Order: sequence, then structure tokens, then C-alpha cells
Amino acid sequence: MKILVINGPNLNLLGLREPEIYGKATYEDLLAQLRKDAAELGVEAEFFQSNHEGALVDAIQGAYGTADGIVINPAAYTHTSIAILDAVKAVGIPTVEVHISDPDEREEFRRVSYIRQACIATVKGKGFAGYTEAMRILAERR
Ligand code: DQA
Repeated sequence: MKILVINGPNLNLLGLREPEIYGKATYEDLLAQLRKDAAELGVEAEFFQSNHEGALVDAIQGAYGTADGIVINPAAYTHTSIAILDAVKAVGIPTVEVHISDPDEREEFRRVSYIRQACIATVKGKGFAGYTEAMRILAERR
């Protein structure tokens, strides 16, 4: 089973970025944790991060026929991107939405998630552990 883990804008700056919200661990720390988790779950994980909406759409399209599941934190594009929602709908790959913080407990403008309606589950407010949970949700569907 292959899972593609996609991270959107500014998540490459984890560690530096608002550590009081997102923690002090870096994007590389996240990948190291997820590589371990993938090995424990017996799945193959691939990782992609971009600050660009179109690149995220391309990554989702590219997963068609190659990935069995997607874990995605679209970051700020969660709240704005119909293109990312449409891409997930188009490929029909089981997808889990993840957020490190809980956007529903923050500013009003973070309460909209376009992608949510195309996802089999949402994990939010659990820090990096949310990605692990998302991978487990996908792995358990095997
Ligand atoms: C986020 C929450 C979003 O509102 C924000 O724009 C992000 C990160 C999270 O992981 O908590 O960039 O998706």
C-alpha cells in the first residue's frame, strides 16, 4: 500500500513558524516520524510539500494510479481552494485531511474547509500525531 503525504504552504517552515501554535519540530522531523510510522504500519509513504496551489493539484493528479491513499494538510488552501477539492474528487483516492492545530477553534476564516467534503476523515488539533492517525485510518482500510 502506498500513501502520499501532501503538505501545503508554509509547512516547510515548521519549527520556525508560529511555534506556539505548530510546535518547535521541523518539517524534516515530521518526515522522520512519518517514515518510522509507515514502516510500523507496513505501508510505503511518499512525501510532497509545496507553497503553490497548482503544484498541489498536480501532485494529487499524479497520485492517480500510483497511490492507494492520500494524507493531506492543505494548510491555508484548506480555506480557499476549490481546485484542490476538485482534484481529490477527480482522482477518487481515499483521502484524509490533517491539521496540526484545530482550525475550527481559531479565527472565523479558518472554519471553512473546502476539501473536507471529499475526505473520508479529518484529524485536527493533534499535532504531528494527527498525520500518524491519518495514515493508520488509511492502512486499516486495506
Ligand atoms: C493548518 C491550519 C491552517 O489554518 C493554516 O493556514 C495552516 C496550517 C494546520 O496544520 O493547523 O497553514 O493547516
